[in-house]
Amino acid sequence: MGDIISIVGPTGCGKTTLINDIELFATKNTPSERTILINDEPVPEDFTFDPSKHPIALISQHTNFLSDLPVGDFLRIHAKVRGADNVDTIIEETLDFANQLTGESINRLTGMTELSGGQTRSLLIADAVIIGNSPIILLDEIENAGIHRTKALELLKKYDKIFVFVTHDSRIALLSDFRIIMKNGSMEKMIITGPEERRAAMELKKIDDVMLEFRRLIRAGEEITDEIFNSQIKNLAYSN
Ligand SMILES: Nc1ncnc2c1ncn2[C@@H]1O[C@H](COP(=O)(O)OP(=O)(O)OP(=O)(O)O)[C@@H](O)[C@H]1O
Ligand SMILES: [Mg+2]
Repeated sequence: MGDIISIVGPTGCGKTTLINDIELFATKNTPSERTILINDEPVPEDFTFDPSKHPIALISQHTNFLSDLPVGDFLRIHAKVRGADNVDTIIEETLDFANQLTGESINRLTGMTELSGGQTRSLLIADAVIIGNSPIILLDEIENAGIHRTKALELLKKYDKIFVFVTHDSRIALLSDFRIIMKNGSMEKMIITGPEERRAAMELKKIDDVMLEFRRLIRAGEEITDEIFNSQIKNLAYSN
């Protein structure tokens, strides 16, 4: 528990297929004909039959809500179903978590279907982690929703769960404990993040932070003058 794992590889190599197989506890019954074992053992039957015992939450690449309930009502129902005793606190905590990942805060009166792509993903992640309380969380390409990736990783690290990120993002990959490299539908290689890669991640963080700052300025309607550009690039002045 507590590990963050990335799954990387070129487009179409089977990353989404792998995490879908994990979520379904595939037993040669999916297109890949994979079998998923836990600690080399077949998965207990009630994991697959009893939804409340299912230990995995999957946040997929293309997520939409079917319910148009207001956010607050939806979270309340989910919290009650899960048997939470302090429903109000847990809703507060979930919204607070989600709002740290999004640009524009989520209002609890907004309809679920009216949320933006990034808000939807943020809310789903927060809901899976806090209300769903699933010990294993699979996330397919969170970087594409424009949510705050490293903030997400930082927040998630506080929870003692297994997080599996499918990602094309070098920073997420290098901040993980290890990564699985996929090719032609299969797992080809596993790399444990060592001290050199951790150092590389720290340096890449500086470059990434500058890119994120430009994104923030552009989103906020600023013009990028020579002065702004140069002052930002100065932040990259290499420290080593
Ligand atoms: N092991 C496998 N056996 C059979 N088919 C597979 C296997 N892995 C993937 N596929 C098929 O290959 C196609 C692409 O796979 P998938 O969507 O998982 O790729 P991906 O790595 O998630 O790509 P992207 O980065 O674009 O999201 C799918 O149609 C999937 O069914
Ligand atoms: Mg995919």
